[in-house]
Amino acid sequence: MPAMPPPDLSSVRVCVFDAYGTLFDVASAARHLQTDLGDAWAPLSEIWRTKQLQYTWLRSLMGRYADFHQVTREALAYAMESVGVSDPALADRLMDLYERLDAYPEVPDVLRALKDGGKQTAILSNGSPGMLRSAVEAAGLGALLDDQLSVDTLQVYKPHPDVYALATSRFGVAPEEVAFFSSNGWDAAGAASFGFRVVWVNRFDQGVERLPARPEVELTDLRGVPALFGL
Ligand code: LAC
Repeated sequence: MPAMPPPDLSSVRVCVFDAYGTLFDVASAARHLQTDLGDAWAPLSEIWRTKQLQYTWLRSLMGRYADFHQVTREALAYAMESVGVSDPALADRLMDLYERLDAYPEVPDVLRALKDGGKQTAILSNGSPGMLRSAVEAAGLGALLDDQLSVDTLQVYKPHPDVYALATSRFGVAPEEVAFFSSNGWDAAGAASFGFRVVWVNRFDQGVERLPARPEVELTDLRGVPALFGL
């Protein structure tokens, strides 16, 4: 992305974060089982994530919602078969690890800085409420978040605009009073299309999505977030 002038984010009252890939490292589940998986851990992790997201979009289009726990398990079954690993106990361990993924190291300090600076903070995620609760608890982030909003209440996945409206309803704010942070380019586009002020946390050095709306800011991780608000 070309260099952009610093945006004026002074109207932002609520900072809303995507969970998986943005706050939590989705590769950490398979990485923790490298000894069992050998070289297959990385392709397994990649296919697992890709299929998981595809299934959310496909199920939304099919009108066949199933919660993110089920979608994640089904994507894992596909991924394990793809890399030639057939081990139900290992699948269970991977799913257990997905409930307590590593948070990226900068996350607690960034959330604390935002809260100390008077911003409200929340997660807005495809994750089912139980998955989000356990990931947040395992990472010790509970006190740093005002809420954890899940698509599960709507039974449709991102980037449906109703999902982003969960945040404006919950906090009683207009879309332009929300800053939304996601490492997923398509999620950043969906949130920008809804009217959020969007920061794309391009952790994986991906290309810009050719979708109808684009993020205003691009960062490589969350460390630069407090400075966007003069904090
Ligand atoms: C989420 C997925 C998109 O947390 O990462 O909603």
